[in-house]
Amino acid sequence: MDKFIPLSVPNIKGNELKYVTNAIETEWVSTAGPYISEFEDLLKEYVGASYAVACQNGTSGLHLALQACGVKAGDMVIVPTLTFIAAVNPVRYAHAEPVFMDCDDTLTMDPLKVKEFCEEECTFADGVLTHKKTNRKVKALVVVHVFGNMADMPAILDIAKQYNLRVIEDATEALGTRYTEGELEGKYAGTMGDMGVYSFNGNKIITTGGGGMIVSNDEELAEHARHLSTQAKADVLYFDHDEIGYNYRMTNIQAALGLGQLEQLETFIQTKEENYKEYQKQGIVLLPFRKGIRTNYWFYSFMCENRDELIKNLSEKMIQSRPVWKLIHTLKPYEGAECYKIEKAVYYYERIVNLPCSTNLTKEDVACVAESIKELQK
Ligand SMILES: Cc1ncc(COP(=O)(O)O)c(C=O)c1O
Repeated sequence: MDKFIPLSVPNIKGNELKYVTNAIETEWVSTAGPYISEFEDLLKEYVGASYAVACQNGTSGLHLALQACGVKAGDMVIVPTLTFIAAVNPVRYAHAEPVFMDCDDTLTMDPLKVKEFCEEECTFADGVLTHKKTNRKVKALVVVHVFGNMADMPAILDIAKQYNLRVIEDATEALGTRYTEGELEGKYAGTMGDMGVYSFNGNKIITTGGGGMIVSNDEELAEHARHLSTQAKADVLYFDHDEIGYNYRMTNIQAALGLGQLEQLETFIQTKEENYKEYQKQGIVLLPFRKGIRTNYWFYSFMCENRDELIKNLSEKMIQSRPVWKLIHTLKPYEGAECYKIEKAVYYYERIVNLPCSTNLTKEDVACVAESIKELQK
């Protein structure tokens, strides 16, 4: 029988077992314990952020970030349509409304269209951007670093500054991606906006099973997110809660796992880069990443005209692949939501197939996937 080649699975071969065992042996298994602060400290040092708040997953991190950034019921938030739905649902959790944006050729939010939307569809007065058609206040922008690529942050930050928008970076897929040139040289995905969020879901570059982390350089925003993540308890002894909070804190067991994973992050990125290059060597042309960055190579994208046939064919050979997400503005929960000139996202949605990219992938696996693709293309 053929070997099953999964799309993206965890790689847990470092100190994870040792740290998790220690968390269990010391009986610090819940939402307090030394591994949580150690994981927060190491991650914030790695990405160069001032504050970090560990939470249950990327989705809860985004929800907390929106609330900390002051997004309120009835507000509007600019979001991409080409991404995973978890980047957008928290807008609705906050009782706000999304407006969907197109992507550029890096698959990330097109800043030219964002600017055009702000200029043409909105008015700006007294520091408030208002959407003319719905009269909603546009408060924030959620920019996603899709597949480990980097969004055009200099352009996004300029627009946000001009129109007084909060920037939340969904860096759930882009831990380790950083600028290597230009005005933002050295800056990591997640650290340039008001708040950034990482995910440690099982398919991410490092995993805690399920988990997430918010980072920020603004103490007030970070502490507010931390407060909300622990039921907004203002007085620990007397159960004084001063807001509606959430039970969104990471556990010490997850953090122990995360610490072991974080130690291997750079090795994982190196392996992913080698495998990306191996695909190219085998004649498979993958979508490139933005110039001027060091990407984490999280997901590999292959463009083809027979997407569904390819996925089916690979699946018959025990090779897992997948199409890119259905565009969110076309999904049932977002029927009737505002959209702005969505064009490129449709083109990419119809053609992209994500190929196996786990750090466990061998050269032989890559050769096997490449062979199967070439067979179909003959
Ligand atoms: C772009 C994007 N946003 C948000 C999330 C949510 O992260 P989590 O699964 O940790 O809740 C994910 C991943 O799952 C994602 O890919």
